[in-house]
Amino acid sequence: MKKIKAGIINVTGYAGVELARILWQHPDVELVSVTGRSAAGKKLGEVFPHLAVTGLTITAELEDHVDVVFSAMGHKVSAEVILPLYRKGVCVVDISADFRLKSPAQYPEWYSFDHPSPELLEKAVYGLPELHRKEIAKADLVANPGCYPTSAILALAPLVKHGLVETDLIVDSKSGVSGAGRTLTLPTHFAEQSDNVRAYSLSGHRHQPEIEQELALLDNSGRLQVTFVPHVVPLTRGIISTCYANIKPGKLTGGQEELDQVYQQFYRGEPFTRVVQEPPETKHTWGSNLCLVYPVLKPKTGKVVAIGVIDNLVKGAAGQAVQNMNIMFGFPETAGIDALPVYP
Ligand SMILES: NC(=O)c1ccc[n+]([C@@H]2O[C@H](COP(=O)([O-])OP(=O)(O)OC[C@H]3O[C@@H](n4cnc5c(N)ncnc54)[C@H](OP(=O)(O)O)[C@@H]3O)[C@@H](O)[C@H]2O)c1
Repeated sequence: MKKIKAGIINVTGYAGVELARILWQHPDVELVSVTGRSAAGKKLGEVFPHLAVTGLTITAELEDHVDVVFSAMGHKVSAEVILPLYRKGVCVVDISADFRLKSPAQYPEWYSFDHPSPELLEKAVYGLPELHRKEIAKADLVANPGCYPTSAILALAPLVKHGLVETDLIVDSKSGVSGAGRTLTLPTHFAEQSDNVRAYSLSGHRHQPEIEQELALLDNSGRLQVTFVPHVVPLTRGIISTCYANIKPGKLTGGQEELDQVYQQFYRGEPFTRVVQEPPETKHTWGSNLCLVYPVLKPKTGKVVAIGVIDNLVKGAAGQAVQNMNIMFGFPETAGIDALPVYP
């Protein structure tokens, strides 16, 4: 089969460079163009020696015709660079948040900008294949989910979909430092972040409306709300989200066995989301596109605890973006992203 041509906007961030690594090895894709601002004109291998084999040069703008473009730009700027390409007929996978939220009013509230193309928010498909595979297959604009939302939504979706829990949900997440991006900041300095764990965005994190939006689609009460608290931990990669929900009266009377069956059924046939029998650890997903989900019943307190674990740069960003591209172009869903996790 003829390979499709792909481009990456902003290859010099962590999400962009991880995309380049994955796309370069993809059997159905030719990576033809990668852009960057301060590194424009340099060889990709000069900035990232592990990618020297590509021979690609970083340019200020996309240099070739592409069939698909991945934007790994920050929010607001991403929509600005994507829209002209999208209007020319290029398929887009946006790794930023610019097309994830359906309500235009949420952009000024959570991201401090007015959306430049609100009419496209309904058209863009939220790229979580486990929930939206059929729409992704027909889409030409996919909003790749956030890293925390991927782990939390996949951990909680079976409970919400089957109406097993009350709609007041708690998500406690821990992320490695690469989740904050490659731009230097004081809190991500080694001396600040090593041997240290901190909670942040306690007044409200941008991923909260995204988690609520997607879980609300599975719930028919109209009352779903999420208390989300993210933490940064001294890891390079990885997210673990521990989610807490109160069991509805009369539900899950079959105990842990029933809970396991609900999850196994929900994710049956999924190539990347696996229900595991032991508590998953971030290292069990490192470098892979896996999401490991572990539900456990707490009968004494009437709660379910559901854990979701991913590599934030793979299933939480670049890997899921390629999974979406595979679905959009009719490639095998696992093409280019079937690597096993790296251990130790
Ligand atoms: N990191 C993750 O785990 C993760 C997960 C899911 C989604 N995302 C999303 O992916 C996108 C990229 O995130 P990231 O973590 O990869 O970012 P990052 O590592 O912080 O990327 C920063 C890069 O962006 C460039 N840049 C910043 N502002 C720019 C502008 N106005 N114009 C052109 N280039 C600009 C900088 O290049 P210069 O050196 O040229 O300034 C820098 O190389 C974001 O939208 C983020 O929300 C990230």
